[in-house]
Amino acid sequence: MSENRAHDVVMDIVEGVRDAIRKNDVTFDEYKMAIGYIMKTAQAGELPLMIDVFFNTTLVENMNKKTKGSPNDLQGPYFLEDVPDVTNGKMKTMPHDNEQPMVLKGTIRDTEGNPVPGAEMWIWSSTPDGKYGGFHDNIPSDYYRGKLKTNDDGTYYVESTMPVPYQIPHAGPTGELMRAIGRHTWRPAHVHYKVRAPGFMEFTTQAYFKDAEWVDNDSCSGNQSREFEIAEVIEDGKRIMDIDFVIQPLPAMATA
Ligand code: DHB
Ligand code: FE
Repeated sequence: MSENRAHDVVMDIVEGVRDAIRKNDVTFDEYKMAIGYIMKTAQAGELPLMIDVFFNTTLVENMNKKTKGSPNDLQGPYFLEDVPDVTNGKMKTMPHDNEQPMVLKGTIRDTEGNPVPGAEMWIWSSTPDGKYGGFHDNIPSDYYRGKLKTNDDGTYYVESTMPVPYQIPHAGPTGELMRAIGRHTWRPAHVHYKVRAPGFMEFTTQAYFKDAEWVDNDSCSGNQSREFEIAEVIEDGKRIMDIDFVIQPLPAMATA
């Protein structure tokens, strides 16, 4: 490992940009336009969004190279820590014409295959019209999300409703840039999961719906692993998302 990590990372970024300038013979006018565009994006408060759209997945990839557990995926901007306990119950949802009940269940195991009881799990997803509780349209922050604890046998169970494809904020400079480069601003319908348990790495992932729209063409380049694309199973009118996750033990502490 280098003595000056900041130097190494910054110079690699600089070289990457220089390569792009050389390869595309970028003009002074284009250079000035790009700087203006970055300023405009910052003023619109969209720098985090624009950077995430292109690069967040790459950090997830790095993580997945190291883990022996299930593949991680994007956390996205809509995780809330302080949410209702929904263990073996139901999330709060609002009546909606396009509502499709959904069961989220499975088992959390360690890398040896042993169930992990008492793991904390957060699950959140969009409304039947692609919004997030606590962020959009005055939907309260305790809707379409919850926290649970895995049972003694490592299982989890909660009911909610199916999410739909989600469009990232697209009215500002990020959307404008995506359109300018011929890309769309949609994400496939997805469910977010986060698991924390003592002695284990925090695990964050998403599940998707097999053959669903955008599932192989996500504007945010999520779903790299394609591991949690769940085929349609409906029981008692409820879409079943039965997913087992493997969580990775914390690396052993180096001792002096
Ligand atoms: C974004 C939104 C999400 O719901 C998600 O899972 C990832 C990214 C976004 O708006 O950037
Ligand atoms: Fe999301």
